[in-house]
Amino acid sequence: MANEYVMCADPRFVGRATAEVASASGDKRIPCRYMTHSAYIIEATLPSDELLPRIMDANPVFVYSLFPVLLHTSFKGTAELAGEMEKTMIKGRSFRIEVIRESSAAEGSAKTLEVELGTAIESMGHIADLKNPKQIMVVIIVGSRVTVSGGITESLIDITADYSRWGQRHIDILNRAEMKIIEAFALMKINIPIGIKSIDIGAAPGGWTKFLVEKGSNVFAIDAADMDYAMLGEECTVVKHGGQLQKGPRIIHLKMGFDDAIKMLSEERFGFAGIDMNVSPMESAESAARISGLMEPGAPLLMTLKLCKPSDIDGIDNVVKRLNESYEGFIFRKLPHNRQEITMVAHRKAGI
Ligand SMILES: C[S@@+](CC[C@H](N)C(=O)[O-])C[C@H]1O[C@@H](n2cnc3c(N)ncnc32)[C@H](O)[C@@H]1O
Repeated sequence: MANEYVMCADPRFVGRATAEVASASGDKRIPCRYMTHSAYIIEATLPSDELLPRIMDANPVFVYSLFPVLLHTSFKGTAELAGEMEKTMIKGRSFRIEVIRESSAAEGSAKTLEVELGTAIESMGHIADLKNPKQIMVVIIVGSRVTVSGGITESLIDITADYSRWGQRHIDILNRAEMKIIEAFALMKINIPIGIKSIDIGAAPGGWTKFLVEKGSNVFAIDAADMDYAMLGEECTVVKHGGQLQKGPRIIHLKMGFDDAIKMLSEERFGFAGIDMNVSPMESAESAARISGLMEPGAPLLMTLKLCKPSDIDGIDNVVKRLNESYEGFIFRKLPHNRQEITMVAHRKAGI
């Protein structure tokens, strides 16, 4: 018998996402029904306790999240819905609710509904925990139809529908690129110590640089284009072609292309490298290979791979082949704020 799941994915890559589930589940075909812009109901033969660990092991690129469907119902009011949801929840585990609504019969914003449902469920003896919940309930309301999915957080891919709303929460971000690096650090588990030197290649207008400075890095930002110096709000020195590097400023903008900038940095050592150039995946990989000798052992490399044509995705194997001499632990992921691209994380190999 088929088991139903709510799968969140970018609508442009739903085919890739269902293929990833099919490959993990062993199903030839995964039926997929549209619910909202980013949420789909899919069917797989495996139950969630078997499928979810397999999906986690497979480390999918295009599946944002996968939750077993717990309940289909119609919207009659928040109190009634909270009562029905409560019956599907695990007792003794703290919870968080995430609502996705589209032309819904329910009044109020998704946030208001989350608060109303959460308060009602708390009054039934459950404990809400927004930061570290032990179970997540995802409620999708389309018209008067309600689908509730969710489960224990340990068994789920740790991306939830919540991330698709991050952009609305961060009002002081410089651009969408900054959202990409915020998501990569959170969802791909990147950590960098305070006080390291970072290199940001393809840095303008400066979303990644701003994030890295806020993380306590001193940043070499490489780009021939202008940075948003006002928004960066930090001491920032611009070095043009033929200029001299200075010690001290938190941000040094090498206002030139990568080929010229790299010649000035042969004495530097970096604890983090970011590459977000609008060039082909193999060109980005070439740059990553060329800076590998300047990176500290174990240092993270974060790189976006632009998928301008469908065949670019098939070239990812070549990127890994090019880089696996000096980097290891490759992870690829389609993050919510990636558009026609995916994000890669790897770490500089030690002892080479
Ligand atoms: C998507 S934007 C980068 C956004 C940036 N990461 C941010 O956070 O604001 C791509 C940038 O790559 C730069 N770029 C493309 N080729 C480059 C090269 N060979 N050397 C340096 N920068 C390059 C472009 O000038 C452009 O500013």
